[in-house]
Amino acid sequence: MDVLSVLDEIGFIDGLHIEALVSTIDEEGMANLAPIGVRRIGDKLYMKIYKDTQTYTNLVSRDLALINITDNVEYYYIATFRDDEAIILLDHPLDNGLPPLRDADAYIVVKKEDFEDYNEFIIIKFKVIDIQIKKGFPRLITRCKNAIIESLIHATRIRVFLERGDIDKVTRLKHLISHYKDIINRICPSKPYGMIMDDLERMIREWEKNSD
Ligand SMILES: Cc1cc2nc3c(=O)[nH]c(=O)nc-3n(C[C@H](O)[C@H](O)[C@H](O)COP(=O)(O)O)c2cc1C
Repeated sequence: MDVLSVLDEIGFIDGLHIEALVSTIDEEGMANLAPIGVRRIGDKLYMKIYKDTQTYTNLVSRDLALINITDNVEYYYIATFRDDEAIILLDHPLDNGLPPLRDADAYIVVKKEDFEDYNEFIIIKFKVIDIQIKKGFPRLITRCKNAIIESLIHATRIRVFLERGDIDKVTRLKHLISHYKDIINRICPSKPYGMIMDDLERMIREWEKNSD
């Protein structure tokens, strides 16, 4: 299977950081589902996993994980704070022992290849083993796109508030944009996201100069 073209086809393009629900199993085969960010670099996927999570414990003892693609935010809430209910969301395990999210748009089976150990977390590099598309066009969640949309909306208001001389509101919205820029710098600094944020900041500086 040409995993690169399948990842491209579902919109999981090179450099993108998405949110997903990751299924893992512990040493006894007990399933766990947790929201984890997944970044694609070339044909590899990367996860930064904090050591205080069950996902970390499971991935220390097991090499395989299953990345469930869904944009259902209720599932993210359940997987984060309602562990008992999260188990009910899972389907029967595959031959490899990993249970997919029953209602996933798609799932990606990955195998741990390498990892870097930091104090509080590890960054694991995964090889893609298999991709199963369950629904027409899988809907990916990425904070990068949300951060851009929020920043664009705020920028349109900044322009209006500058014209009105409402500096308090301008300051508040600039603060929010800088928060989104921090997110983008951290998780998706490459094109087009980092470039759009730089351009937005440049435009805002110009509007401010013109309104003096
Ligand atoms: C959208 C979203 C993304 C998250 N991304 C990560 C991540 O990349 N790495 C991580 O360690 N925790 C991440 N978390 C936090 C874990 O999901 C959370 O600590 C969870 O309780 C861990 O579950 P577990 O102990 O069953 O593994 C994220 C949470 C949310 C809601």
